[in-house]
Amino acid sequence: ADTTVVIIGAGPAGMSLANFLQRRGVSCVVLEMRDREYVEGRQRAGVIDHRAGEIFAEFGLDGPVAAGGPVETLLEIRTDGVPRLLDVPALAGGRPSRLVPQQMLVQRLIGAFLDGGGDLRFAAADVTPHDLDGDRARVTYRDTDGTEHELTCEYVAGCDGFHGVSRRSIPEGELSTYSFDHGIGWYTVLADSPAPRYPLMAVSRYGFAAQFARGPYASRFYLQYQPGDDPRQWPDEHTWEQLRLRLGDESLPAGTITGREVVEMRSFVAEPMSWGRMFLVGDAAHIITPMGAKGMNLAIADAYVLARAIIDGEGLTGYSATCLRRTWDYQEFSRWYAEMVHDAGDDSPSGAFRRKLALARLDRLFRSPPAAAAFADLMAGTEVAP
Ligand code: APR
Repeated sequence: ADTTVVIIGAGPAGMSLANFLQRRGVSCVVLEMRDREYVEGRQRAGVIDHRAGEIFAEFGLDGPVAAGGPVETLLEIRTDGVPRLLDVPALAGGRPSRLVPQQMLVQRLIGAFLDGGGDLRFAAADVTPHDLDGDRARVTYRDTDGTEHELTCEYVAGCDGFHGVSRRSIPEGELSTYSFDHGIGWYTVLADSPAPRYPLMAVSRYGFAAQFARGPYASRFYLQYQPGDDPRQWPDEHTWEQLRLRLGDESLPAGTITGREVVEMRSFVAEPMSWGRMFLVGDAAHIITPMGAKGMNLAIADAYVLARAIIDGEGLTGYSATCLRRTWDYQEFSRWYAEMVHDAGDDSPSGAFRRKLALARLDRLFRSPPAAAAFADLMAGTEVAP
């Protein structure tokens, strides 16, 4: 074969896997449809949980990829403008997460892989896997000149996100899929506005809002919106007014908004996560809501399980079951978290009742050490034995 693993997609999943394999001398080729600038500029997730940090450390990548990322200290939970601080790393037994924006992580992983002599081909068009049930798989693609190329390999790692070709290349009927619409809308804006002191989640009768640092001088804000509303039509002044109400901070300064996006609150899982020589990794296999910040961490954890199985040569039959156990654990956590903070917004009688429940759930985190520890353990990321 031309290489051991063809990796489709150079996002967090593909680039984590590529680096793990490279560091253990397993050959791989990464095929990415977009150009380098696009991949390195895409802003999405922002947290490497403690477990993902351990994974990078095991491959000597902790310094190269996570250096400089501020370590998680406290989480601020504000209910009706009243702040309370939760020491999540301490509650997790001294396991802090790290704030590393996705584009920085991807830039660094690409840099490390290329420095190590890695084979990464951008602008690969019409990437198509073949012979996934054969003795050897093939992947074809076209380069920017339109020239066709073919690579033979032992394994194909489908790291090409939800809309990629990998999951679609598995014959229909072989996968079961599970989707869920949370019935919640999220509007997110990136603004030149001082970072909050701590990551901040706010629950109030005006709805949910959150603020996270994106470097020292920028913040990413999230605002829940009611179904049917279109926040892309909101004047910026309305966004700031809503943030002031929800964060209970009349003096919150309005900064320049540099990015606006609507985030789908949707969950999806495909089972099993492998078929023949194809292994789905990250968003290609599952989508999770941003609540709990597990999307990127799941991608890194999947990449780890696959890399270990290939490196150790112990067979890949357990890959799907191991990854699915963690996937469903995190789906449950993310749903629980979303429900907890989003039940506060509407003024109907049942809305008012649910709001009381949401506040009681949040309050429990500050009163019950076991409840707080369970929450913190999931925030830090869990170990999943095969
Ligand atoms: N051929 C080649 N590359 C492709 C194809 C294709 N047909 N389709 C998609 N890609 C590339 C995309 O351009 C992208 O760079 O695959 C990559 C997939 O990256 P992500 O969508 O970021 O998915 P993943 O690596 O699984 O990361 C998942 O990161 O932001 C998050 O929400 C995401 O948290 C989740 C995590």
